[in-house]
Amino acid sequence: MTKTLLSLAELEDSKPVDIKSVDLVSLSTALVTQFMQVYDRPIILHKNSNSIFIKGDELKLKQVIIIFLDNAIKYSTDVIEVFLESNQHMGILRIKDYGIGIPQEEQSHVFERFYRVDKARKRDSGGSGLGLAIAKNIVNLHKGEIEIESKEHIGTEIKVTFPLTN
Ligand SMILES: Nc1ncnc2c1ncn2[C@@H]1O[C@H](COP(=O)(O)OP(=O)(O)O)[C@@H](O)[C@H]1O
Ligand SMILES: [Mg+2]
Repeated sequence: MTKTLLSLAELEDSKPVDIKSVDLVSLSTALVTQFMQVYDRPIILHKNSNSIFIKGDELKLKQVIIIFLDNAIKYSTDVIEVFLESNQHMGILRIKDYGIGIPQEEQSHVFERFYRVDKARKRDSGGSGLGLAIAKNIVNLHKGEIEIESKEHIGTEIKVTFPLTN
């Protein structure tokens, strides 16, 4: 079922963006619940407010969150944490795992299409190397920003920010 979710997520659709006001909190909460059920993995959601309205295309935002959660599940075995915060202008989503991490010298490449860190990973995890490239495109489309912070064998944190609805 999540295979289907992910393949949908990684399908770059050509539908025009449909920007509305989307609640990042309810969107993330629903997806986190779904992932916990399907993978039987603990995912802790931290939030500093009950709703964070951002300007976005709901389906595309969903795609982004699915891509990050899928990676966190695939490349770690420990608990996953999701943080939702907002400041005056931006909604902020961070997805943090305590997994294998990404070597420093590879971090600038993981957003390239088809880029995957090494052969061993390719063999056991499956995947296309497209997820992060698609996620980055979608975030750019939303005038958001995406950052990655990772240490090998310690873990990875992906941070995305989106402009709030006025
Ligand atoms: N949370 C993560 N922890 C460790 N490595 C990651 C993580 N997310 C992405 N990567 C690395 O970045 C590469 C690119 O990610 P992605 O574009 O989603 O492709 P895929 O997951 O299909 O391999 C992955 O192959 C993996 O090596
Ligand atoms: Mg992936």
